[in-house]
Amino acid sequence: MRLIFLGPPGAGKGTQAGLVSQKLGVPQISTGDILRDAVRAKADLGLKAKAFMDSGALVPDDLMLALVQERLEKPDCQKGFVLDGYPRTLPQAKALDRMLEAERQKIDAVVFIDVKDEVVVWRLSRRRVCPGCKALYNLDANPPRMEDKCDECGTALVTRADDSEATIRTRLKVYRNETLPLVDYYQAKGVLKTTAGEGTVEDIFTAIMEELSEVGQV
Ligand code: AP5
Ligand code: MG
Repeated sequence: MRLIFLGPPGAGKGTQAGLVSQKLGVPQISTGDILRDAVRAKADLGLKAKAFMDSGALVPDDLMLALVQERLEKPDCQKGFVLDGYPRTLPQAKALDRMLEAERQKIDAVVFIDVKDEVVVWRLSRRRVCPGCKALYNLDANPPRMEDKCDECGTALVTRADDSEATIRTRLKVYRNETLPLVDYYQAKGVLKTTAGEGTVEDIFTAIMEELSEVGQV
């Protein structure tokens, strides 16, 4: 299955995309994680992307298209993938359509997870992430066993540079202006599946899997 996870920052895209990718046995492609790894490695892409990310802005489309094209060409994407954080603009969505059409492929479903702004601010202010295995935690809803260490791999947990309240609010504005129009774009294509993002991680996962079971073999 070829899936897109769409929604505001903090909606739980990474959390749910990770569970769905495990369940379906296809890779989770988080453009945010790829960019953060490039920033940490001081790679060319990271040097170009860092200032945009730190301010809560989007990284320019041309950089994102090249990144996603390269990733989707890898053999592990042949049977499907779960895109987490891409596309984020109409030009990105149209470029993805062209990439897939060239391979006679298409997106099977777009999982749109929505949550209120105040929930986003609370969730992201309390988020900790593992820079090693990318596990996600929340100090209230899903705390690690030891406050500063990843349960999965023992790496020291970090707070994302863009998880300050001011930057979260900028990201929400950018989301509304640039990414929200994709809801109509995918609705018109008949592939949009909307899920309420407030509730337990398990309940939301169950609701998403039910939606996906109507689309095909999951
Ligand atoms: P990206 O990394 O994609 O960030 P984002 O879209 O802002 O979303 P988040 O990762 O913050 O939230 P999420 O929805 O994944 O939620 P999570 O599961 O972590 O992008 C970062 C930056 O990179 C962008 O701002 C941009 O600069 C750049 N970028 C990336 N892709 C790009 C693109 N395509 N084009 C241009 N630029 C791009 O959950 C959040 C928290 O809530 C966690 O603590 C989690 O444990 C907790 N939580 C999850 N579910 C629940 C629940 N049900 N109940 C309670 N807590 C929950
Ligand atoms: Mg994420």
